[in-house]
Amino acid sequence: MKIIMLGAPGAGKGTQADMICNKYNVPHISTGDIFRANIKNGTELGQKAKGYMDAGELVPDSLVVDLVINRIHQDDCANGYVLDGFPRTIPQAEALDAALAESGEAVDYAINVDVPDENIVTRMSGRRACVKCGATYHVKYNAPKTEGICDNCGSELIQRDDDKPETVLNRLSVYHEQTQPLIDYYDGKGIVKNIDGTQDLETVFADITAILG
Ligand code: AP5
Ligand code: MG
Repeated sequence: MKIIMLGAPGAGKGTQADMICNKYNVPHISTGDIFRANIKNGTELGQKAKGYMDAGELVPDSLVVDLVINRIHQDDCANGYVLDGFPRTIPQAEALDAALAESGEAVDYAINVDVPDENIVTRMSGRRACVKCGATYHVKYNAPKTEGICDNCGSELIQRDDDKPETVLNRLSVYHEQTQPLIDYYDGKGIVKNIDGTQDLETVFADITAILG
């Protein structure tokens, strides 16, 4: 089961990817989480990515593609994976397809979590994320059991640097310009599944599992 999550920033890709991965027991590969972990650990990759992320711009394809292709060739990906935040540009999608085609494989589903721009800024302002395990919460819609503490691993929850309203607006415009064209790209391959992401978390998940079986 090879799945990619499409959708605007804050549409719920990470939230749903976590739920899919728990149910189907496949790894959740979030490029945003990988970059944030690198920034936290002060790696060279993290230093290169930080400026782009803080500005709400995309990190250059050259820093992302090899990282993901190497990751999906690891043993834990043998039964599939959920890619969350990758691909994000047409060249990234083409590189992924070419790498999979080498072993006669292809992406099975492109799940497009559809949420209009006007809902996004409110969602982002209430988001809290665990820097350690990447779990995502919302102060109102998906609150942790104890305020400020991750249910999964007990670490502290933080507000992401790029969730400021002005950065969110830039991320949305970058999304429309560079990432939304992927919906047509994957539609041409007949694998796009559109999901109404304005529903509550459990209903969105039920719609996804109805497709995945
Ligand atoms: P990334 O971390 O991927 O951020 P994003 O795509 O902007 O998406 P988000 O993580 O903000 O949103 P989400 O859709 O996962 O929503 P979530 O589930 O958290 O990327 C960050 C940056 O890294 C990029 O800007 C770029 O610079 C760089 N980058 C990463 N990958 C890259 C790539 N491939 N190429 C180039 N650059 C790359 O939900 C949001 C909130 O809403 C949460 O609080 C959640 O609890 C709540 N929520 C979720 N679902 C619902 C619901 N149904 N109802 C109510 N609330 C909900
Ligand atoms: Mg996310």
